Amino acid sequence: MSSVIVVGTQWGDEGKGKIVDLYAEDADAVVRFQGGNNAGHTIVVQGKQTILHLIPSGILHNYKTCMLGNGMVIDPRVLIEEIDYLKKENAFPPNTKLVISDKAHVIMPYHRRVDAAREAAKGAGKIGTTQRGIGPAYEDKVSRVGIRICDLLDSEVLTEKIKRNVEEKNFYLTKLYGEQPIDEKPILDEYMGYADVLRPHVADISLLLDVAIRQKKKILFEGAQGCHLDVDYGTYPFVTSSNTVAGNACCGAGVGPTKIDSVVGIVKAYTTRVGSGPFVTELNDEIGQRIQSVGQEFGATTGRKRRCGWLDMVLVRQSVRVSGITGMAITKLDVLTGIDKLKICVGYRTDKGEEFTKSVPADLKVFERCQPVYMELDGWTEDINTAKRLEDLPRNTRRYVDTLENLCGVKVVLVSVGADRNETIVTENPFRR
Ligand code: GDP
Ligand code: IMO
Ligand code: MG
Repeated sequence: MSSVIVVGTQWGDEGKGKIVDLYAEDADAVVRFQGGNNAGHTIVVQGKQTILHLIPSGILHNYKTCMLGNGMVIDPRVLIEEIDYLKKENAFPPNTKLVISDKAHVIMPYHRRVDAAREAAKGAGKIGTTQRGIGPAYEDKVSRVGIRICDLLDSEVLTEKIKRNVEEKNFYLTKLYGEQPIDEKPILDEYMGYADVLRPHVADISLLLDVAIRQKKKILFEGAQGCHLDVDYGTYPFVTSSNTVAGNACCGAGVGPTKIDSVVGIVKAYTTRVGSGPFVTELNDEIGQRIQSVGQEFGATTGRKRRCGWLDMVLVRQSVRVSGITGMAITKLDVLTGIDKLKICVGYRTDKGEEFTKSVPADLKVFERCQPVYMELDGWTEDINTAKRLEDLPRNTRRYVDTLENLCGVKVVLVSVGADRNETIVTENPFRR
């Protein structure tokens, strides 16, 4: 198998970074295809933690090509900081290449300003965005006024586009939000400087991937966020501004759907969410707090506490369907150790008799009326961090894993029992099938 997509099946932070790093060993190229530095992907190797926001999670391996796809929105300041951070930590191997799509869109300071101003204006109804300018940057892309990486490299185009955009954004900032205007000159100076640093990395990644696929190279596509933050299939409007489902790997990297072999969905053994929006299985009790503290559920990007709750298979089933998931990687199973009774949500019910088992309601008002229908399983107390095979897991842990497999009809290809790269049970490697 040569092309594998990894996506989150919940509301992000499922452990995609860990799994992508692990699979990257077998890949030739690792490609991010959407999102920006709203993502925070954590890798732990022999106790050393690396958090990535833009650079694909294959970067710690030598002899790889790490690509930032055209579907991404890139804040050049953050990207350059990330490159410097990796180099300082000796975590940017000499023979690994970083390639940035010439068609990716650029996050500008006015995007961050509009993101923050809009959230402030929403008050209690805010989305709880990461305030990295993601939404406003995608808006500019869709309304065809965005600045792309290729524009950044052309000072004439850049000057003209910044001028026009600053005029428009200043109208929003001052007239709509009562904020101070933004000055175009410092933006221009700053972004001209970025152009020179990034230029050597810029290319048409669709062409490079085409050549690589013809040469039977192995390509790993790394999703950001999760299927329920998808702008179409997520809990709209409490979503991010890109398509996070597997199908967007094709658009966001310039590869046809016929080139994809398998899709691995990452399922955290419980559910978390950062920011606002419906969360049927949320636990506002001691168990929720326990999961939050044992699982160290703090946002890798904003440091915010993640909301925690039981595993919700309605979410997972929808993700399996919408992303065409062929294998499931269960993560953070160790966090559930020591909880006496474990609940898994198998459906939602409302006071009006509506039922949802495979698909979440589109209407937020209906979503808010949904109550979870749970099945209950016995927990386990044994440490599972050192398990290397499914057979090493306690009987009740095995039962939890088997139940997930049965509830969504997708085979388990990996079980993660700790944050470190080696705390993993691989039952089927998608590149070695
Ligand atoms: P991502 O955004 O999907 O890449 O996930 P994050 O990196 O934001 O959050 C996942 C967190 O869980 C990180 O701190 C990981 O180091 C950690 N993690 C990943 N897998 C496991 C696991 O199996 N067990 C434990 N305890 N932690 C894990
Ligand atoms: P990774 O890739 C978890 C959430 C934000 C907010 C909503 C919209 O690490 O899984 P945005 O800044 O994108 O406009 O915010 O989406 N969000 C994430 N939550 N993990 C992420 O990425 C997220 N990226 C965005 O908290 O609720
Ligand atoms: Mg994350």
